[in-house]
Amino acid sequence: MGFPAQRLRRLRKNENLRRLIRETHLSVDDLIMPLFVRPGKGIKQPIPSMPGNYQMSIDKLVEEVKLLEGLGIPGVILFGIPEKKDEMGSDAYSDEGIIQKTIMAIKREVKNILVITDVCMCEYTSHGHCGFIRKDEKTSSFDVDNDMTLELLVKESVSHAQAGADIIAPSDMMDGRVEAIRQGLDENGFEHIPIMAYSAKYASGFYGPFREAAESTPGFGDRSSYQMDPHNAEEALREVALDIEEGADIVMVKPALAYLDIIRIIRDKFNYPVAAYNVSGEFSIVKAAAEKGWIDEKRVALEILTSIKRAGADMILTYWAKDAAQWLKSK
Ligand code: PBG
Repeated sequence: MGFPAQRLRRLRKNENLRRLIRETHLSVDDLIMPLFVRPGKGIKQPIPSMPGNYQMSIDKLVEEVKLLEGLGIPGVILFGIPEKKDEMGSDAYSDEGIIQKTIMAIKREVKNILVITDVCMCEYTSHGHCGFIRKDEKTSSFDVDNDMTLELLVKESVSHAQAGADIIAPSDMMDGRVEAIRQGLDENGFEHIPIMAYSAKYASGFYGPFREAAESTPGFGDRSSYQMDPHNAEEALREVALDIEEGADIVMVKPALAYLDIIRIIRDKFNYPVAAYNVSGEFSIVKAAAEKGWIDEKRVALEILTSIKRAGADMILTYWAKDAAQWLKSK
């Protein structure tokens, strides 16, 4: 057979050998922690479907961000639950909005962490859709009005930048939003603020727990008219190409785990930084199985994060960011 016994196995014999031939290195440098902010004071309310995650009032959230900074985590991404929702999602772009106030509070007290903001309407609209809803009187069907929504997203992005956001991350999937937001930021003196675009965002069942956490489940219909069909890969390349053309600095794939192939083809095809969103459902299934004693959470979580990195992601948005930062330190 001409193949010496143990040819491959002899490099796996001990941990030091394994370290030398290791191809993928997961580190705290790769991690971004999502956080949920709600009105009030002194509130840290557990999110039942996402153990270890909380809806926090601004004061508590700032304390948490300090801890994350101390762990060496490079960035957080913020999601807001506003005092009141309305048809136009007006809290999203108000100077007094929940996110705007949170950014300012973080920036007053925490110096060395990036504040990324999710730009979308779904947490702020009474109907829970990602944009402005237009009703067709004849057919009494509903649709999201793309161009009207773009105006709102630009206002939202500029107000986040004015409050001190470091990176703007549009997650709405309207056509033309990156270009519109880029232009809006530039016109208002924010040429230096990068855009992290949720470029390949699939209409996924894995967002279930997040919608509970952010109280953003659509009141009717679903998001299939603006999010991608899970059956498609080529379409993801078109979405990414367009976003880069329009000015995206970082492109994102979401979810991550069921879409590792998409991360890989984007990494191979474009030389732009790739972010992957390890979404709520991917987190909660592991938590639930671990609670039952069926799997080892730490081991599985690190394996999942490593696989996302190995697939080609430069950065990972993950609810494990805080735990993983600690696990990786004590390894
Ligand atoms: C939309 C948004 C969603 C998530 C992040 N931004 C939800 C959606 O499209 O319904 C999901 C993240 C997760 O599941 O962890 N603003």
